[in-house]
Amino acid sequence: MKLVVKMIVEKIKARIIINSRGEKAIEIEVNNAYASAPSGASKGKNEVVAFPKEVEDVVKDFNSVKDKFLGLKIESFEDLDQVEEVFFSLGGFERFGGNTLVALEFAILKALAKHYRLPLFKVLNPEVKEVVPRPLGNVIGGGAHALWRGPDFQEFLILPKTKTVREAVFLNAKIHRELGQILKERDKGFLGAKNDEGAWVTTLKIEEILEILSEIKEKYNVKIGVDVAASQLYKNGKYILRKENKEFSREEWIEYIKELIETYGLYYIEDPLYEEDFEGFAEVNKTKALVVGDDLTVTNIKRVMKAYEKRSVKGVIIKVNQIGSVLKAYEVVEFCKKKGLVPIVSHRSGETEDNTIAHLAVAWEVPIIKTGVVQGERIAKLNELIRIEEWLEEYS
Ligand code: PGA
Ligand code: ZN
Repeated sequence: MKLVVKMIVEKIKARIIINSRGEKAIEIEVNNAYASAPSGASKGKNEVVAFPKEVEDVVKDFNSVKDKFLGLKIESFEDLDQVEEVFFSLGGFERFGGNTLVALEFAILKALAKHYRLPLFKVLNPEVKEVVPRPLGNVIGGGAHALWRGPDFQEFLILPKTKTVREAVFLNAKIHRELGQILKERDKGFLGAKNDEGAWVTTLKIEEILEILSEIKEKYNVKIGVDVAASQLYKNGKYILRKENKEFSREEWIEYIKELIETYGLYYIEDPLYEEDFEGFAEVNKTKALVVGDDLTVTNIKRVMKAYEKRSVKGVIIKVNQIGSVLKAYEVVEFCKKKGLVPIVSHRSGETEDNTIAHLAVAWEVPIIKTGVVQGERIAKLNELIRIEEWLEEYS
């Protein structure tokens, strides 16, 4: 018989910390562990609200009732349902927002890992033998993440194929550096600027960038892709590329996207259409590209089921704070795996040093983690993946 000593929640407290954009973020401390939640810039309109009032007011309000969580006995991931029961009985998302529950659940899980003296991924999944996820790296960026001064597509991405995650992290970094050099030579307006996620901001056009990425694809063992974040480009039934002075009807846009996939051999394409066009996604999904929903699906099981039924996507972005609950995010991961959709655990453009998503991605054995290439808040996750891989090499 296994004797498990449950963790009792003995101390809890919320505070304000700063995130990578200099905004206020919520951190919650549980026993001897703390965790925080990220924030988006190009949010889907169907996401759970991160904060229903000023972060200060949320923190004050949460701290006024925090003792209600004391005494909870936590033994495993599933016990987060007790935490959610208390959270929702106190007013839930309307009162505290999704980010509060995410920070709270991350902190509970981290405290549990400390309680068992194990890395978090191991507590979540004792069976895991290797680091499955490979980092999808944002190397050139535009859209809302670059003040609309870069290209209209939000992210240009690379996905390495390597034996270890360590090699993948450094291959992404090498290519990121090389792209900086290439832009210096080919883009007269290039200032060496990086956006929120550490991706280079260029004045080159979409197809000029894709041309460069095709060269990278020939040279290195990487696949390439984009996050169009098309909801940001959609207005009154039309898609507008401001930077390139082009306007497309829905049908023209679908053709344009399909052509880009074909011409540049795009392996990955996220949010190619605006967030309510499940049928348009399905058109693009007829190509062999890994078509991925982010704003479309918002880590919401109902929307993911709809996307599955309509054959809109082959992959689904998992951002815990889109749905405000680790349990609910996991439900989506499970559904994806059962139905053959690729779950992709993702950071957000506004991040903290919190590394919980590295543990979730490893424990849930998802093939891809989207978490940037450089900058402190991004490498916090990448370095944790390196540590986890080493831990597994030594102990399993
Ligand atoms: P966000 O965007 O974190 O700013 O919402 C990231 C993404 O669209 O993948
Ligand atoms: Zn996205």
